[in-house]
Amino acid sequence: MIDGKKVLFSGMQATGNLTLGNYLGALKNWVSLSDEYLCFYSVVDMHSITVRQDPAVLRKRARSLLILYIAAGLDPEKNCLYYQSHVSGHAELSWILNCFTYMGELNRMTQFKDKASKHGDNINAGLFTYPVLMAADILLYQADVVPVGADQMQHLEITRDIAERFNNIYGDVFTIPEAYVGKVGARIMSLQDPSKKMSKSDENPNGSIYLMDDADTVMRKCKRAVTDSEGTFLYREEQPGLKNLIDIYSVCTGKTPDEVVQEFDGRGYGDFKMAVGEAVTSILNPLQKEAARLEKEKAYVDSIIKENAEKAGYYARKTLRKVQKKVGFPVRV
Ligand code: TYM
Repeated sequence: MIDGKKVLFSGMQATGNLTLGNYLGALKNWVSLSDEYLCFYSVVDMHSITVRQDPAVLRKRARSLLILYIAAGLDPEKNCLYYQSHVSGHAELSWILNCFTYMGELNRMTQFKDKASKHGDNINAGLFTYPVLMAADILLYQADVVPVGADQMQHLEITRDIAERFNNIYGDVFTIPEAYVGKVGARIMSLQDPSKKMSKSDENPNGSIYLMDDADTVMRKCKRAVTDSEGTFLYREEQPGLKNLIDIYSVCTGKTPDEVVQEFDGRGYGDFKMAVGEAVTSILNPLQKEAARLEKEKAYVDSIIKENAEKAGYYARKTLRKVQKKVGFPVRV
């Protein structure tokens, strides 16, 4: 709680091209929750360097991502939108929490195993302790709620475990956060292989819709989306390609999957794929226009970056000082 309001924290990496999965699984919920909570939305650039990055590209992508947060409808006057690297408390708390996290716990993280197998030549310690930095992000602001896609649930669980362990030793220091995962859209799958999640790093660009894709590209990808030869319009696990398209259409239009099934029952998959393409475009088009406009508003965006980093830093320091005192660091005079 800060000033009588519950606190929300979430973040996104500025690595690769953001996908429709990032938007429907996370960003869209961020916007809908932003009135109810005091919100911190970070561009987690420190997490990004666990995989080798081109510095100029990372810097540019980080800015575009912050702009995208605003373009998606997060008011930077009410929500704290900032770069993780601008608030040193993330690194400082992360170090302390490292000392309360077990190697065995980190070894079980599926994202670590995935990334280690993809980047075999660079299995660095940062990649291994990635979830601890994520725990620090969340606990630094005493967040009550963390809206994420389903792939981040394991990281949320370890965050809760670390917080509870710390509290058991030192008393009630951290708020124990809850994950917020949307009913539909928490796991948007690849359009080419519905057994895999839609991902920024997919080698097949037809599997992912990128947030900056133009209308023709979106339509082409939707038309090529893998479905099945059953020919029945049902929302069920046995038809994963169709189920994924229904999920996408459902989140874009606000209709429930059942309503979508009723709407398209008896019509061909082709018709439906066109409708999905149109629904996605109607979401992406205004987002892209607003982002392009804001890219030109340099002074305005700079002022937001500065003010919000100061605001985040203020709340971060409060928790950090408390934690430093608890673990026995000498008090500042
Ligand atoms: P990242 O950058 O991989 O993804 C950002 C958000 O998008 C969600 N997401 C998806 N949701 C549905 N379907 C998909 N196919 C899909 N792909 C991605 C993710 O679940 C996430 O919510 N470690 C985090 C960033 C992070 C963070 C945090 C999040 C760092 N610190 C603290 C919450 C709280 C990550 O790499 O997300």
